[in-house]
Amino acid sequence: MRICFVGDIVALPGKRAVESILPGFLKDNQIDICIANAENSAGGLGVSSKIADSLFDKGVDCITLGNHAFSNFEFIKTAGRDSRIIRPANVNEDWPGFDYTIVEKGDMRLGVINLEGQVDITPTGCDPYKKADRLMEEIKNKGVKAVFIDFHAEATSEKAAFAYHCAGKASVVVGTHTHVQTADERILRDYTGFITDAGMSGCIESVIGMDIDCSLRRLRDKLPGRYEAAMGEAFMCGIIAEVDKDGRCTSIKRFCEYE
Ligand SMILES: [Fe+2]
Ligand SMILES: [Fe+2]
Repeated sequence: MRICFVGDIVALPGKRAVESILPGFLKDNQIDICIANAENSAGGLGVSSKIADSLFDKGVDCITLGNHAFSNFEFIKTAGRDSRIIRPANVNEDWPGFDYTIVEKGDMRLGVINLEGQVDITPTGCDPYKKADRLMEEIKNKGVKAVFIDFHAEATSEKAAFAYHCAGKASVVVGTHTHVQTADERILRDYTGFITDAGMSGCIESVIGMDIDCSLRRLRDKLPGRYEAAMGEAFMCGIIAEVDKDGRCTSIKRFCEYE
């Protein structure tokens, strides 16, 4: 099974890049299942049902989210309606939506889980380790051997620790949220494909997808101001992983495709 994961889609440039690049990319790389993190797709904050539908149209099979899952208020009303969209499973039990999903394509089945870290991120997730174990067991009890986890977290150490916790159990653990692709993709314990961060899909000339002047105003000048998404040429970043019939990852490679 060949899986493509697209990192945090940020605002209009990210959405535009994904929509123009993804259909051909999936074909050229013979991808079976495509997952995309869309937590920043609606103007930089959250997702909308309209954006989700257009990503599904372009070949995305499953959407994961993160700490900005409900930053676009409209999405709260639709979060529980489409099981192809999942939000972090370990933040608040009262959050609407799905803890995990099982993507089925022909005779292939892939469990997908989205979890959030606990270090320097708000809202803070509850224990992602126990929750991951519980959900992986639930998925495996349904006869699904392959499990993909989008671990949405700030600290690189936490992402690695979590991935090692899942090593030998999850097929792939991909970090998201920091928006900068890391160069450490590898297979842990001869089983679990891992990268600290898949990178974002968004404007290149930016501060992690946000407008440079807005970021300087807040960070250098210490002045209040809203973050605004940067506009300009974008890329689409992520990883391609290959998983065998027993759920073991046999290869993981990162990509960065420019508009
Ligand atoms: Fe993000
Ligand atoms: Fe995030």
